[in-house]
Amino acid sequence: MAATTCRLVILAVSIVLTTCQTQDTNYVIGAGIADITGPAAGINMMGYANPGQISSGLHLRQYSRAFIVTDKSTSSSPVVFISTDSCMQSQNLKLEVIRKLKAKYGSLYTERNVCISGTNTHSGPGGFHQYLFYDITSLGFVNETLQAYVDGIVKSVDRAHLARKPGNIYVNTGELLESNINRSPAAYIRNPPEERARYEYNVDKNMTVLKMVDAEGKDIGMISWFAVHCTSMNNTNGLVSSDNKGYASQLMEKNFTNSDFPGNGKFVAAFAQANEGDVSPNTAGPKCLDTGKPCDVPTSTCNGRNEQCVAFGPGKDMFESTKIIGENQYKKAMDLYHTATIQLSGPVDFRHSYVDMTDVIVQVNATTKVKTCKTAMGYSFAAGTTDGPGAFNFDHMKGDTTGNPFWNTIVNYISAPSGEQVTCHHPKPILLDTGEISFPYAWQPSIVDVQILRIGQLAILAVPAEFTTMSGRRTRNAVTEALVKGGLPANTVSVIAGLSNDYADYVTTYEEYQQQRYEGGSTIYGPHTLEAFIQEFMVLANDMTKGVPSSPGPNPPDLISKQLVFVPPVVFDAAPQGFGALLSKLLPSYKQGTRVQAKFAAAHPRNNRRAEGTFLTVEHLVSTDNWEVVYKDSQWCTQFHWARTRILMRESEATIIWDIPADQAPGTYRLQYFGDSKSLFGEITPFSGKTPSFLVTA
Ligand SMILES: *[C@@H]1O[C@H](CO)[C@@H](O)[C@H](O)[C@H]1NC(C)=O
Ligand SMILES: *[C@@H]1O[C@H](CO)[C@@H](O)[C@H](O)[C@H]1NC(C)=O
Ligand SMILES: *[C@@H]1O[C@H](CO)[C@@H](O)[C@H](O)[C@H]1NC(C)=O
Ligand SMILES: *[C@@H]1O[C@H](CO)[C@@H](O)[C@H](O)[C@H]1NC(C)=O
Ligand SMILES: *[C@@H]1O[C@H](CO)[C@@H](O)[C@H](O)[C@H]1NC(C)=O
Repeated sequence: MAATTCRLVILAVSIVLTTCQTQDTNYVIGAGIADITGPAAGINMMGYANPGQISSGLHLRQYSRAFIVTDKSTSSSPVVFISTDSCMQSQNLKLEVIRKLKAKYGSLYTERNVCISGTNTHSGPGGFHQYLFYDITSLGFVNETLQAYVDGIVKSVDRAHLARKPGNIYVNTGELLESNINRSPAAYIRNPPEERARYEYNVDKNMTVLKMVDAEGKDIGMISWFAVHCTSMNNTNGLVSSDNKGYASQLMEKNFTNSDFPGNGKFVAAFAQANEGDVSPNTAGPKCLDTGKPCDVPTSTCNGRNEQCVAFGPGKDMFESTKIIGENQYKKAMDLYHTATIQLSGPVDFRHSYVDMTDVIVQVNATTKVKTCKTAMGYSFAAGTTDGPGAFNFDHMKGDTTGNPFWNTIVNYISAPSGEQVTCHHPKPILLDTGEISFPYAWQPSIVDVQILRIGQLAILAVPAEFTTMSGRRTRNAVTEALVKGGLPANTVSVIAGLSNDYADYVTTYEEYQQQRYEGGSTIYGPHTLEAFIQEFMVLANDMTKGVPSSPGPNPPDLISKQLVFVPPVVFDAAPQGFGALLSKLLPSYKQGTRVQAKFAAAHPRNNRRAEGTFLTVEHLVSTDNWEVVYKDSQWCTQFHWARTRILMRESEATIIWDIPADQAPGTYRLQYFGDSKSLFGEITPFSGKTPSFLVTA
């Protein structure tokens, strides 16, 4: 009896295994991750336009996460979706990535089927744009930032390409509450009441998740889209950080790979951006810095001053707020991933055009045609938002008032807008008439990308701007309807992939534009910008359902050879005590849950960005002379700070912080700092410094 039972069990097990191995697959899928961390010191952060927000260390590294999906028949063209921990994309960044991919892969990956989308972190180095306006606070073009992003993005595609294998994709959508609020409700409420009545909230609470598994059902990766600004770290932060979405990615990747070190690639989880134009993560809402009282709602001011009105939190400081909003997105994505059952099936397809957005004629109704405008920024742009009040004084347009040599060089090119521009942008009062200046080169783009990637019943709408909540909804609804009418399945899902391919500021609805808040002031092609974008997306959608190619459109300019550069190079480093010398005293022991801090004689981090490496390690003594690395610089509990101490002497200090987790194993630990010094002759030499060992106690 006993022997028979035993044999039956074995049989049952082998049947289960056989079923797993013969699962049908619809797609070929590859996922890859690579480090894109830009200069961790001395470069202005992109996003808040705060000239004082200069990188001065690192909290979380920036990564590029790439996903390649091909139809079952591998002879058909793939689509590539890439999400990067950067504020946005730039046209020249995408063009440079595509040039490198074409050199390696021929016509497999082109500007037509590759979409690169930024997560919108406001704590990543800037200067990677070819259009002048976006490089103002970074003192012009910064090639080091561009190269870091290009190299890392290409590497992430290489890894995804090598990892391709048959698999399946599932989609799921669910609501995530308490993680985003509308920061311009006075503009949102201008939308027609019957339209607003169709939605429960004034921001999108839906998160859409793609789950990717191989033929054995093993996890490959995840992409989520959820609309929320990556502005949990505020405009005083100098540490390079991937903000709430980057932290969510690290948490999810850690859960699946069971590895402590971010960026190791076995499972890739992208938390991509959507229609976050008017959406803030600072859920405690705006308050006056001086009085602690709520701000005036329609104007976001305190006693008439915008710089006092700042939105906070859910956390007690910006670190805790980042952690909470990151964890919320992570937990929701985990939940949606594990419960996803709708399987994608059907063709992989794409449509892409370049469009001159300054010259689109839109038929708004049976009798009226309208036209978009040449680019211009409104006054409300200069006031900033409650996530980061305006810090760059555009009012002082003439004269050396900003201390910014780039601005002082270009300011004389600014002139009063023409009557045509004033009329076209009405009611926007024009602050910077960027569309009528072409010196020293274009200030904002005229030609931008519009693109749709299709995977079965999923349509990714890649928009080159920050669409507000309602702008995103109108675009999704129009495109989904066109696709379904054209024969796609009734359960087709459209997602907005925000800040994709290049950057053309904000897009509000026509009604929101009338309020001229920050987002309306930054809608650069005038009041009908959204209608023009929707019209162009409808053309792509209809081309797709008819199976006809889309017009390639006019090629964008390449302005890289014209760039003005004002960021000085690192001249050389000096350290009289020796590079890596320990400059502070440590205690012999620290309790779990407390902070260890160590200061070292340092060199400029720009000498080597230490891609896929680290500026620091926390090491645990596991046996005699055997130190095991337990943390590196991209982990939440570590921080790397860098500061010049004696500017003329070229001396600097690095401070390494370790917030010992409350559950850290008691034992013997030490910290190490890794740097690279530059000699007077330009030679770069790596060095390191370490602390004596210390105890961690319960
Ligand atoms: C930027 O750096 C790359 C790589 O070092 C170099 O090939 C390129 O010429 C540089 N571009 C500019 C505009 O300085
Ligand atoms: C959110 O997702 C649900 C379920 O897919 C859908 O019914 C609803 O229309 C979505 N809401 C918005 C605002 O897109
Ligand atoms: C991963 O997340 C699940 C919850 O979804 C949790 O139960 C599990 O312990 C986590 N695993 C790791 C290794 O973090
Ligand atoms: C930024 O956050 C810090 C706390 O982490 C806070 O002290 C400071 O007031 C905030 N500043 C702004 C301008 O938001
Ligand atoms: C068409 O749109 C224009 C501009 O928004 C408006 O003035 C006009 O009344 C509209 N006409 C109709 C028939 O809806």
